[in-house]
Amino acid sequence: MFNALVLTQEEKLTIANVRQIAETDLPEGEVLVDVACSSLNYKDGLAVTGVGKIIRNFPMVPGIDFAGTVLESSDERYKAGDKVILTGWGVGENHWGGLAEKARVKADWLVPMPSNCDAAKAMQIGTAGLTAMLCVQALQNAGIKPADGDILVTGASGGVGSVAVTLLAQLGYRVVASSGRVEQNGALLTKLGASEVIDRSELEADSRPLEKQRWAGVVDTVGNKVLATALAQMNYGGAAAICGLAGGFALPTTVMPFILRGVNLLGVDSVACPFEKRQAAWEAVLNLLPASYFDDACETIALEQVPEYAQRIIKGQVTGRVLVQL
Ligand SMILES: NC(=O)c1ccc[n+]([C@@H]2O[C@H](COP(=O)([O-])OP(=O)(O)OC[C@H]3O[C@@H](n4cnc5c(N)ncnc54)[C@H](OP(=O)(O)O)[C@@H]3O)[C@@H](O)[C@H]2O)c1
Repeated sequence: MFNALVLTQEEKLTIANVRQIAETDLPEGEVLVDVACSSLNYKDGLAVTGVGKIIRNFPMVPGIDFAGTVLESSDERYKAGDKVILTGWGVGENHWGGLAEKARVKADWLVPMPSNCDAAKAMQIGTAGLTAMLCVQALQNAGIKPADGDILVTGASGGVGSVAVTLLAQLGYRVVASSGRVEQNGALLTKLGASEVIDRSELEADSRPLEKQRWAGVVDTVGNKVLATALAQMNYGGAAAICGLAGGFALPTTVMPFILRGVNLLGVDSVACPFEKRQAAWEAVLNLLPASYFDDACETIALEQVPEYAQRIIKGQVTGRVLVQL
């Protein structure tokens, strides 16, 4: 028997409790993993609170990512003792996930632990950090260079946002961080590498189809009016990597930025990202993210604290990354 956070549903309400479950309760998969760490992402917040209605089958063990050691494997790519990382693939949504001391998953979903990483570091980065790297790589692949101008990062205090700010600054871009919590997190965002921190309200008003050009690139974790305003303010030939909906899934924009300024919208998904691209992104984020990020922007919690932190993350009250130690 081992500990897991288990979600059940009672009268349409999602209830989260730490319970003892048995290995035989775990879903099918080729690889059984002794989970060392998981992390808290926005999607975990939606799952654990039930606000997002993203879980269809109960009981469910949430946790969209984990890192740990292989206990058993019927797949030749992995053997007992191998260190592995998992992010995405619907784990923690429709397959029991990482907020448990053990998980059984498909071998295809795993990534071998890079040699310069360990379970804690992997989960301090986690889904959010991997996604931030994919956003930065999307901008690079679109040809956006530091000399082209400012890069806006929205939802900058969050997991994806704070890693994106740090990575872009490390690569020499001039980063403008947009946050709804400038007073609380402005100093941290500057420390992570933002050259400027602006209040989210600057981008939340209804925008005109085209506004004064401000951004060579955007990493957007927020969506909705904030993204619409950012698009109206893109430089000619700019690109926006979009991955999130913390401010809502709507996008009240027009075709004008795209047809008159040649702006490119780059969709970023880490959930079903192919293996080679995923592995390259892990390598890149581990090489780029400085040790100071882990000291300045990460906190560690226990499994029992996840329900409380889940409430906080969907209210936009979590800063940086939250590691869950198992
Ligand atoms: N596409 C993918 O594969 C993928 C992968 C990972 C995450 N995501 C998405 O990316 C987003 C960020 O994830 P995360 O784990 O980084 O979450 P997070 O840590 O909660 O960060 C989200 C940030 O957005 C801002 N925010 C919160 N509520 C807001 C609101 N109502 N309006 C505007 N801004 C708001 C806050 O930053 P400030 O206080 O600084 O404004 C918050 O810290 C989520 O929507 C998540 O689902 C997508």
